[in-house]
Amino acid sequence: MAGMCFEGRDVISMRDFSRQEIDFIVEQAGKLRDEYRENPGKFKSRRHSHPELAYGVLFFENSTRTRLSTEAAISEMGAFFDGFTSSEGTSVSKGEPLRDTIRMFTECFHYDGIFMRHPLEGAARFASEFVGNGSVVNCGDGPLEHPTQTLLDLVTIEQAHQTIEGLSIALGGDLKYGRTVHSLLLALANYDVDVHLAAPPGLEMPQFLVQDYERMSGRKVAFHSSIEDVIGFVDVYYATRVQRERFPNTPEGQMEYEKAKAKFVLNKLLLEENQSKENLIILHPLPRNKYALEIAFDVDDLPYAHYIAQAANGPFAREAITRLISGVIPTKKHKRTIIGEEKPKFNELPIKERRDYTKDLYRIHDGTLIDHLPNGLGIQALRLLKLDQYRDSPVIPGYNVPSSRAGKKDIIGISQRELQPEDLTRLAILCPDATINVIRDGKIHRKFRMKLPEYLKDLIECPNSKCVTHPSNYEGVPTIFHNEKEQSQFRCHYCTRPIPIEEVRIKS
Ligand code: NCD
Repeated sequence: MAGMCFEGRDVISMRDFSRQEIDFIVEQAGKLRDEYRENPGKFKSRRHSHPELAYGVLFFENSTRTRLSTEAAISEMGAFFDGFTSSEGTSVSKGEPLRDTIRMFTECFHYDGIFMRHPLEGAARFASEFVGNGSVVNCGDGPLEHPTQTLLDLVTIEQAHQTIEGLSIALGGDLKYGRTVHSLLLALANYDVDVHLAAPPGLEMPQFLVQDYERMSGRKVAFHSSIEDVIGFVDVYYATRVQRERFPNTPEGQMEYEKAKAKFVLNKLLLEENQSKENLIILHPLPRNKYALEIAFDVDDLPYAHYIAQAANGPFAREAITRLISGVIPTKKHKRTIIGEEKPKFNELPIKERRDYTKDLYRIHDGTLIDHLPNGLGIQALRLLKLDQYRDSPVIPGYNVPSSRAGKKDIIGISQRELQPEDLTRLAILCPDATINVIRDGKIHRKFRMKLPEYLKDLIECPNSKCVTHPSNYEGVPTIFHNEKEQSQFRCHYCTRPIPIEEVRIKS
């Protein structure tokens, strides 16, 4: 297919796929389903066609449909798979780090790819750093994303409505922890649809995903707090289970769960009373929770109920994905973006002063003068650059120094030391407008401002405790943040959460 690059590709986030690519996968899955329907015997006769392909199916968390339909898809292709269905019974329970488990499958057993589900956000992205030319397919990374589910959801919507364009789609229930609705929302940003988000208090869609959706699509979402608000006019109602396992494991967390559960129950009466559209389809990624049903059993026999048909699309969607990433459906090879080293970039400034710095307050013969630090940040800058512990040469801070530009400013004079790019970058995160004067022989030799790089590698902390980089998870993953200049924020490469520049915590 012209221009399409799927061979060797990872399927980690719906952010990574364009509209054209999504349509192509959905189309391939639909074709497989139609072939199967027309002639199941012929379809199954291909079961021995790709013995050269082998996949690791590594489920560190429970699953029924996603794992079994992945395995069914791989089997349908006549490929081999092996793996595990939970961390129990594997060395993960002995404390094995994720990187080692992944390397076993790729470097030691030479598998062609990994289908994985893991409780940490960004785990699949991190795993993709260890698979060489193979692919990683994210089958759920904590509460973050579940892209293969989204692809089968789109297959189902298109099957029922013949199109996705122009539909009114409501996502209902636990939109905070439900990863399926996170990926679905990101995918829907590619379509001309009306999105309605209906959640009980406390379980609303994370704000950053709403913002990303609105920025990507140029459309606004509508917020609701009950099923009744939306069920009378939407074309798709996507129900979700309250994700008990994601609530904090504390008495407060359990109380929160008790408050939230069984708030969003869709039943026959509700559909009748609200005169739902004739063409409404009700979806659910399943499982529903029999102790707090999100969709009552009396809905199952109504024509609206599409959740079983939805699950039936799972093997076809996952087979389409596997055929594409393995190159069985030929497309161009995909190149994984490797975040490499970046050369530091500087904004050189004109040198106007001819002052002798050995004679002023800072008495620098050779060294650095950091100027225009916003008043009050001088002490933070000293700590950040570990100059508060610097014993070899004089460091002279100047606080509350009069400034024509800002009224007051802080200055730091450092003798016998020129700052390294990493320190300069740290300083630029803290105070982007600080100017650096390199002093040689008592005169300014160079004057510049540091430009923030495209990526910040291991320089700032990700505050999200569920992120694979968070120290409390002991995976030893250095952070990477993308510099989103236009939004004045940095975005975690792994858990995709943005941090506004002023809230960043710089690593010491
Ligand atoms: C979902 C999941 O695991 O995120 N299930 C699935 O994959 N079909 C939804 C859920 O567990 O509630």
